[in-house]
Amino acid sequence: MDLFHSSGHFSETSVPASSSDREAADEADCHQNLIRFLQVAQVLGVPLLPLAWDPALESVGREGSTAHINQSTLNAEFTFAFKRFKPHTTRNDVSEGEFRQMQYDAAIAEMTVLSHRTIRRHPNIVTFVGAGFEMSPVSDEVWPVLVSTKADLGDLYTFLSTRTPLHVESLVAICKEIASGIQVMHHCGVIHGDLKPTNILVEDVKDTDNIQVKVTDFGFSCFQAAQNSDLKVARTQPWEAPEWHSRHFSIADAKAMDIYSFGLLCLWILFRHEKLVVLGVPLVTLDEAFLSKDAAVTAKVQSLKKRADNSMLSCALGLVSNAIGIDDEYGSRLRRLFNLTLCSDPEQRAQTLDDLIPILAVSGQEDEAGMR
Ligand SMILES: Nc1ncnc2c1ncn2[C@@H]1O[C@H](COP(=O)(O)OP(=O)(O)O)[C@@H](O)[C@H]1O
Ligand SMILES: [Mg+2]
Repeated sequence: MDLFHSSGHFSETSVPASSSDREAADEADCHQNLIRFLQVAQVLGVPLLPLAWDPALESVGREGSTAHINQSTLNAEFTFAFKRFKPHTTRNDVSEGEFRQMQYDAAIAEMTVLSHRTIRRHPNIVTFVGAGFEMSPVSDEVWPVLVSTKADLGDLYTFLSTRTPLHVESLVAICKEIASGIQVMHHCGVIHGDLKPTNILVEDVKDTDNIQVKVTDFGFSCFQAAQNSDLKVARTQPWEAPEWHSRHFSIADAKAMDIYSFGLLCLWILFRHEKLVVLGVPLVTLDEAFLSKDAAVTAKVQSLKKRADNSMLSCALGLVSNAIGIDDEYGSRLRRLFNLTLCSDPEQRAQTLDDLIPILAVSGQEDEAGMR
């Protein structure tokens, strides 16, 4: 069996007739999912860890959409982050059974990607340690937990929001590290599918002034289950490419969507304090617009992306031209970066990250992270 391409799916159970049938089916369904997780873990050789998170320590990061992250300290050098999948839905449009299935799909996708021998060793990918288990606090269900090393400087949103603004050189170095993380995934046939600031982690490099940036959260990742099969790609507004739809994509088209999301992420990293006058809400910064919980603001960003005249790209190029503190060399690099990532037509984007990394790389700083 091809381990990496194993989907591990069971056939769906039929809808039960009565509520006692439903409870029995629900219990069977939760066991089936756990067995599915264990089978994939065994096939992939994932370490099953006798570790538990420490309830005395505060939770980690901003609450994500699928999980709570807790921590435990092993010693002065290592703290582990425990990704605990939420057991119950808060959505009206999804039943508990469907939600559980989605959560297990996310856990299995993440574990599968992080077990790939090339991906897991890459310095710009979160360091995966193994899987653990815990009892749900509200029922007697056992849930899997994914364990990684904790990034001491948090996610990129928190990191950039809580320190003095960095120079363009350091910001471009951060973009380059993210590009290297996506590059290894794409080389291995994996689409991230959810690139955004909270899915990028930042670590201190011991005894230096440098940081290391790591891509994380592979719950929405996808990869080909069989040669030439098409992929369903998830969407997190407003970070998805304008051509996104809920049907299937070829692997090349799915990679082009990750490349657009990477372009938006770079735009946010470099210009998040700039006002987005073009949206018609002059007081809103790019940061506020992209991370807004206001549906009207998100709709404006979405319409900017979807306009046929490459408006998002024009907006990015305008920000580069008007920027203070960006010299001609960086200006021309950033224009190339945005021209190759943010055009509406996927065919005009870079076909691979290999074309973008040289634009972002600083000579003599090929493998080092952005400086603090
Ligand atoms: N290894 C880690 N080190 C530090 N913070 C982490 C780590 N893993 C996750 N986080 C924090 O927890 C948040 C949610 O984790 P994530 O894996 O993105 O879950 P979700 O699928 O719910 O978005 C991240 O945005 C980040 O702030
Ligand atoms: Mg996340």
